[in-house]
Amino acid sequence: MNRRVFFIVLLLLLLVSSSTRVESGENDFISFGISQKGLEFAKDLLINNAISSLIPLQLPQIEQKVQIPLVGKVRMVLSDIVIYQVNVSSSIVQPGEIGVTIVASGATANLSLDWSYSYSTWLFDISDSGLASIQVEGMEIGLTLGLKNQQGSLGLSPEDCGCYVHYISIKLEGGASWLYQGIVDYFEDDIVSAVEDTITKKVMDGVMKLDSISQSLPKEITFGNVATLNTTITEGPIMTNTSLVIGIDGLFTQIGYELSSGRYGKGLLSTGSCNSAEKMVGISVHEYALNSASLVYFNTNKMYWIIENLPDQKLLNTAGWRFIIPKLYKEYPNDEMSLNFTILSPPIIEVENQGIVVSVSSDVIINVVDNGEVIPVACISMEIKASGSAGISLSTLAGGVSLSKLTMSLKWSKIGTLHMVLVQSVMSAFMKTIILPVVNLRLKVGYSLPDFHGYGLQNASIIYGDSKIIVCSDVVRAYEYVSHRILK
Ligand SMILES: *[C@@H]1O[C@H](CO)[C@@H](O)[C@H](O)[C@H]1NC(C)=O
Ligand SMILES: *[C@@H]1O[C@H](CO)[C@@H](O)[C@H](O)[C@H]1NC(C)=O
Ligand SMILES: *[C@@H]1O[C@H](CO)[C@@H](O)[C@H](O)[C@H]1NC(C)=O
Ligand SMILES: *[C@@H]1O[C@H](CO)[C@@H](O)[C@H](O)[C@H]1NC(C)=O
Ligand SMILES: *[C@@H]1O[C@H](CO)[C@@H](O)[C@H](O)[C@H]1NC(C)=O
Ligand SMILES: *[C@@H]1O[C@H](CO)[C@@H](O)[C@H](O)[C@H]1NC(C)=O
Repeated sequence: MNRRVFFIVLLLLLLVSSSTRVESGENDFISFGISQKGLEFAKDLLINNAISSLIPLQLPQIEQKVQIPLVGKVRMVLSDIVIYQVNVSSSIVQPGEIGVTIVASGATANLSLDWSYSYSTWLFDISDSGLASIQVEGMEIGLTLGLKNQQGSLGLSPEDCGCYVHYISIKLEGGASWLYQGIVDYFEDDIVSAVEDTITKKVMDGVMKLDSISQSLPKEITFGNVATLNTTITEGPIMTNTSLVIGIDGLFTQIGYELSSGRYGKGLLSTGSCNSAEKMVGISVHEYALNSASLVYFNTNKMYWIIENLPDQKLLNTAGWRFIIPKLYKEYPNDEMSLNFTILSPPIIEVENQGIVVSVSSDVIINVVDNGEVIPVACISMEIKASGSAGISLSTLAGGVSLSKLTMSLKWSKIGTLHMVLVQSVMSAFMKTIILPVVNLRLKVGYSLPDFHGYGLQNASIIYGDSKIIVCSDVVRAYEYVSHRILK
């Protein structure tokens, strides 16, 4: 059997479409919630990324003419001041009304610099130079990252940003004995402010850079050349003291057919999300989002499936139908048959408390192959209702479906009236023993979720109900990934 077929049926069962049109309004059909635990995870990532993007960090040169006892007026220059390493011993993150506050404290840093001095005596010009290293202790870096909806994109701003250095210790290599004291006396404050100012400025620059990246992101994600997902932010960011929630439009549109895929009147955020705060993220997907995806899929794919081969080939020979449709056998004795299983309209999926329910309207055209000629002889309308559930592991979405209801009626026939009770029992056995096992086999193997820069979901649980699916999950690093230094 054809692989595309499995895929079509999978989509029929997992994705949904509803042709219902409701009047426009604000909508967020996919929403993301990040719990305190998720924010901790994101904060650690952000701090590590920020540090590796900042380092090595060059500080401006410092120069002074100072009066040194017993030496006189000396011109001293500290140059090539570079921070090579920053360690953060503890950090916290706290969502608040205007944004998310991140504080890294007890940080240490390691600087190296070149020193040089020169002065003139009545006889000579004297100069010397060398290296020094400086250990920065007890540094505290705080940032309140303002988050807001900027015309549908996530806007970030450095609402409050500061760096405070507790103390520094200076180590000189070489130099005259007065030099050490001179640097401590005249440069310590300058070095401390240079560190504080430069780090503060770099953090602000980093936020501005993130903001411009965020603003320049397209407000849609394209899937192949077929569909786009509208990722316009329509709700939030909403911050409580323990979480952050953002809602996006979340509807799929067919490329080239920018007709509204149905704007509906109610969003997700008003209603609950993951019950357990132990999971890092909660992703809610409203059935309308699934509907829109299925509508696009339906519109862009021929939704029919020709069945010509079966494990039980008897079923595809008129002889096998001899007692069910005697007239068929009489007119076409011992001819091969094929079934054309056609999906008529976008399947309707509802998310109920126990799982997903998919309703599919289909026609099954019974064809006879007589001397190589395909002759449609009858058509049966079939309403299929299947219920399904899904599971997520690291990067795979898998699931299973079962048939919950099947109703049939004869649409047309060139071979007289059919004994529908008999036909129904054959078709229903056919669905249960052939089609569903094949579909389930494929669903069990699952489908890969999009790669998210090396991160995947772990321990995901799925909650159904209230017209939406909520995935509650932890996020883990799926594999080693060299992150782009976005702050650079
Ligand atoms: C940072 O931590 C590493 C390993 O714990 C240590 O070797 C290094 O000296 C530390 N650097 C600073 C600047 O504190
Ligand atoms: C400080 O940085 C220098 C490199 O500039 C390195 O050799 C030294 O080990 C570092 N010291 C600490 C304590 O991290
Ligand atoms: C969050 O705020 C609520 C009241 O608004 C308070 O009861 C709770 O302790 C706060 N939680 C944290 C972690 O601050
Ligand atoms: C995307 O969603 C927003 C908000 O719902 C809407 O205003 C906008 O028109 C949508 N964009 C497209 C291309 O459909
Ligand atoms: C299957 O039936 C549909 C209509 O129900 C038709 O459009 C399609 O061409 C048929 N396919 C084959 C191969 O007969
Ligand atoms: C999943 O969660 C359970 C507890 O809810 C925990 O015991 C288990 O270790 C977790 N699995 C992984 C792979 O972390």
